[in-house]
Amino acid sequence: MSTYNIVTLPGDGIGPECLDATLHVLQAVLERVPKLKLNLSRHEAGAEHYRKHGVAIPQPVLDECLAADAVLLAAIGLPDVRKPDGTEVQPEMMMGLRRAMGLYAAVRPVKLYPGVASPLNTASQGIDMIILRENLEGLFASFGGGCLLNDTVASDTLMITREGTERVVDYAFRLAEKRKGRPSDGKRRVTCVDKANVFRSFAFFRKIFLEVAQRYPNIESDAAYVDAMSLYMVTEPSQWDVLVMENQFGDILSDLGAAIVGGLGLAPSAEIGNAHALFQPSHGTAPQLTGKNVANPIATILSAAMMLDWLADRHADEHAREASQLIESTVAALLSQGMLKTADQGGNVTTSGVAEAIVDAIAAQGAAESANSTNCAAS
Ligand SMILES: NC(=O)c1ccc[n+]([C@@H]2O[C@H](COP(=O)([O-])OP(=O)(O)OC[C@H]3O[C@@H](n4cnc5c(N)ncnc54)[C@H](O)[C@@H]3O)[C@@H](O)[C@H]2O)c1
Repeated sequence: MSTYNIVTLPGDGIGPECLDATLHVLQAVLERVPKLKLNLSRHEAGAEHYRKHGVAIPQPVLDECLAADAVLLAAIGLPDVRKPDGTEVQPEMMMGLRRAMGLYAAVRPVKLYPGVASPLNTASQGIDMIILRENLEGLFASFGGGCLLNDTVASDTLMITREGTERVVDYAFRLAEKRKGRPSDGKRRVTCVDKANVFRSFAFFRKIFLEVAQRYPNIESDAAYVDAMSLYMVTEPSQWDVLVMENQFGDILSDLGAAIVGGLGLAPSAEIGNAHALFQPSHGTAPQLTGKNVANPIATILSAAMMLDWLADRHADEHAREASQLIESTVAALLSQGMLKTADQGGNVTTSGVAEAIVDAIAAQGAAESANSTNCAAS
C-alpha cells in the first residue's frame, strides 16, 4: 500500500470548482487502484484569504506544503485584491511557494489531443512538446526587488546562474529521454530557446546548455532565438520535443503553447524541485466564470495526473503510475469522442459534468474488467 500526503489549495475564482471536479475524479481512481491511498488536506490561501486576513498563505499552510508529498493547487489571485503598492497578491504567493519549495523546473506540456480543435492548419502531424520553464531565476529573480528612481526610471535585473541553468537543462534532457520524441519523426530533441544574439546573460545560458548537451549524445540538441521560436511553434509545431528556456520566456511561450492545443482550460503544469513538487493548471482564476459551473476543469485534472506520475517516478510506485495513466487515457478517450466539450471548447458540458463523465467512464472500464476476469475464471 502506498500512502501519500497531498495538500490541496483551491484558491480563488474558478479554483474551488476545478479542484472539486478533480477530487471527484481522484476518488473514482482510488476505487480502481485500491493499493494507492491519498491523504488529502484542504487549506484556504490566496487573494480572498489576503482580503480577510492580510496574508495570502499562512505560515502553517506553507509548513504543511513543505512537509507534504506533493501540493495540488487550483488557481489563485483576484484582480480587485491588491497590495498597497498596487500589485496583485498572486505573484507574491506563487514566488513565495516556488522559492520555499525550490521548484526550479516548470513543466508545461503542449499536447494536442485527438478530438480537440487547434486554431492552426499546420497541426496535421500532431503537437506534443514540453515547454520547460526555468522557474526561480531569469527575470523573476528580481521579483520583490527592482528599482524605481525618482519616478523617472525603473529596472529589474535578469539573473542567470551556472547552477540554476545546469539543473534545469539537465532536467530537460532527462525528460527527453523518457519521451517518445517529436511528433514529426520521433526524434528526441532538446532545444534551447534564448536571446543569445543580443544579451550576455542568454549567451551564458546557451553556453551552459551546450555543455550539458555533451552528456546526452543520444539526444539531438539545438538552439533557437525566442522571437523565431514563437513563429516556429505556429508554422511547424510538430518539429519540437522539449524546449528549455529562461523564466519569463517560458511564462510567455507556454501561453502561446496552450493557445495552439485548445486553450488554457486544457493546459496542466508541474513545478518540480529536488525535494518538493507542486501541480497546478496553467490558467488563472477566470473571475468572470466563477460560480457558474462552466469552467473547464481538465487542466486541473491533468495536473493531478502529472502529480501521480511524478510520485510514481519518485517512489518507483507502479500503483501511482497506473492511477496517472488511468486519468490521462480516460480524458484522452472522452476528448476524442467529443464528450468533454465545455464552453471554452464550443460545447455546453459543465464543470461538474466533465468530472461525472470521467468518473462514469472509469467505473465502466472497471466493471468491464471485472466481467472479463469473471468470464475468464468461468471458462
Ligand atoms: N497560477 C495562478 O494561479 C494564476 C495564473 C495566471 C493568472 N492568475 C490570476 O488569475 C486572475 C485572472 O487572470 P487572467 O484573466 O489574466 O487569466 P486567466 O487564466 O484567469 O484567464 C484568461 C482567459 O482564459 C479563460 N480561462 C482560463 N481558465 C479557464 C478554464 N479553466 N476554463 C475556461 N476558460 C478559462 C478565461 O475565461 C480568460 O478568458 C488574476 O487575478 C491573475 O493574477 C493566477
